[in-house]
Amino acid sequence: MGFSCWFLVLGLLQQFFGLNCAQLLMHGESTTNYVSAIGDPGMENPNVRVALEAWNFCNEVGFEAPNMGSPRWADCADLDCSSNTGHLGDGLVNDGRQCRVLHQVNDSDNSLRAGDKFPIMGFESYTDPDLFAKEKELYLGSLCEVPESPNPWQFWMIMVKNGNFDKNTTLCPENGQKVSKIVTDRNFPCFGEGCMNQPLVYHKYSILDSFDGQKVYLTGEFYGTYDLDANLSEDATDGFNGGYHYNGRGIMKKLPESPNFLVRLTLDIKLGGGPNSQFYLLDIGSCWKNNGEPCDGDVLTDVTRYSEMIINPATTSWCRADNLVFCPPYHISPTGKMIYRNETAQFPYSAYHLYCSPGNAKYLEEPYDICDPYSNPQSQELVQILPHPEWAVHGYPEKQGDGWIGDSRTWELDVGALSSRLYFYQLNRVHKAHTGMDPVKDPNLRKKGWSGQYHPTVGSGRHILH
Ligand SMILES: *[C@@H]1O[C@H](CO)[C@@H](O)[C@H](O)[C@H]1NC(C)=O
Ligand SMILES: *[C@@H]1O[C@H](CO)[C@@H](O)[C@H](O)[C@H]1NC(C)=O
Ligand SMILES: *[C@@H]1O[C@H](CO)[C@@H](O)[C@H](O)[C@H]1NC(C)=O
Ligand SMILES: *[C@@H]1O[C@H](CO)[C@@H](O)[C@H](O)[C@H]1NC(C)=O
Repeated sequence: MGFSCWFLVLGLLQQFFGLNCAQLLMHGESTTNYVSAIGDPGMENPNVRVALEAWNFCNEVGFEAPNMGSPRWADCADLDCSSNTGHLGDGLVNDGRQCRVLHQVNDSDNSLRAGDKFPIMGFESYTDPDLFAKEKELYLGSLCEVPESPNPWQFWMIMVKNGNFDKNTTLCPENGQKVSKIVTDRNFPCFGEGCMNQPLVYHKYSILDSFDGQKVYLTGEFYGTYDLDANLSEDATDGFNGGYHYNGRGIMKKLPESPNFLVRLTLDIKLGGGPNSQFYLLDIGSCWKNNGEPCDGDVLTDVTRYSEMIINPATTSWCRADNLVFCPPYHISPTGKMIYRNETAQFPYSAYHLYCSPGNAKYLEEPYDICDPYSNPQSQELVQILPHPEWAVHGYPEKQGDGWIGDSRTWELDVGALSSRLYFYQLNRVHKAHTGMDPVKDPNLRKKGWSGQYHPTVGSGRHILH
């Protein structure tokens, strides 16, 4: 019923992406026997639970945008329809019933900014915008919480991230390490001072609407821009963009663990962003240390691991037989066979966009490329894959162009199975690889490698601006 999808307008990027409704399923033996790990799968509940978070280049706030407050906002509203048919009042008639909207989050909640006191006990105010945003998110979550088995959940999260990095500031750590000056040959997009700003975000709170004056539903909108000089009353609302990225606390009721979980989502891409706009069918983020231990918030030893299927067909394979630096050390075939990247007759180079290694890894196999050390609070490792028959066995697109503009589909992705086939750096894995033992066949290793927390992101992308 009703509220199915939200759209977010992002003035700067001018992308046009339909934002999708996703389901994250955990299954046992068959795909029909599953338990949803997320709250309100498919967004079919008439009540709305949506929040928006904005990040700078290294997933922090840095500075709040003028008059915007802390970059966490929520729209949580319940549709309350009484069976009282006596009068219409200001509600709408729904099969003779009267309905009204009960907002759980109001403007004074959404406009809270660093240093403000929270209206209820249990939430600590900080003047540091990074610390305050985290507390505001918890506060908004408490207003939105839906009690459900086995655990409560709070909201679906839309995430927007500024891709600009100003090397003259020290807002971002390097592989988790605080540095007093950024010294790097890498180039990052930045138009000048202030390029790492937070966006202007506006909000049309959920209101009642109806199909044919009959079925009522809630509808609302977040929109905004990174251009602080923009005048949004001139209707900058052509060009939709949206992306979910969340650590699982707000939307999930339980944590999925490989290999037994599926993601079902419908994707309808309206407009692409050109060759420098990566667009992920799915981005799975996890975190574990190089010794296989789970992450504990120590940014010096934690490593964020991402696997991302880029479905923008303009994205090419940087991993090639003559460019092994962008390939993972080995590939694992659907039957579990390990194929080294130097086995040129067998290695499926075109299944990979690129692989890069964590900056705090000590025993990397040459040749290697280190992932961008600044764009996450800790070191990161990326496996970026492309549509390919190697992945199609798990429900992923088989060839470039599948699922792209004009080819809307509902995907059922066996993310758990695919993730078990991806190479990730881990000390004991490296040793096992050298001793010839197949890590895929070692249940201990497989479990360790994927025991971290997943952060599924649907319909997101890195948009690289030049
Ligand atoms: C907004 O909601 C908060 C928390 O429920 C409440 O304390 C506050 O009084 C409300 N503000 C307005 C203006 O309604
Ligand atoms: C950073 O500093 C250099 C040298 O002072 C200057 O040329 C450059 O414009 C600055 N970059 C930004 C983004 O402010
Ligand atoms: C923004 O645009 C509207 C409509 O064109 C105009 O009325 C308004 O004055 C503008 N505001 C600013 C601050 O320029
Ligand atoms: C291929 O790579 C593996 C693992 O690094 C190595 O043991 C092997 O000697 C290499 N083979 C060739 C032909 O370079």
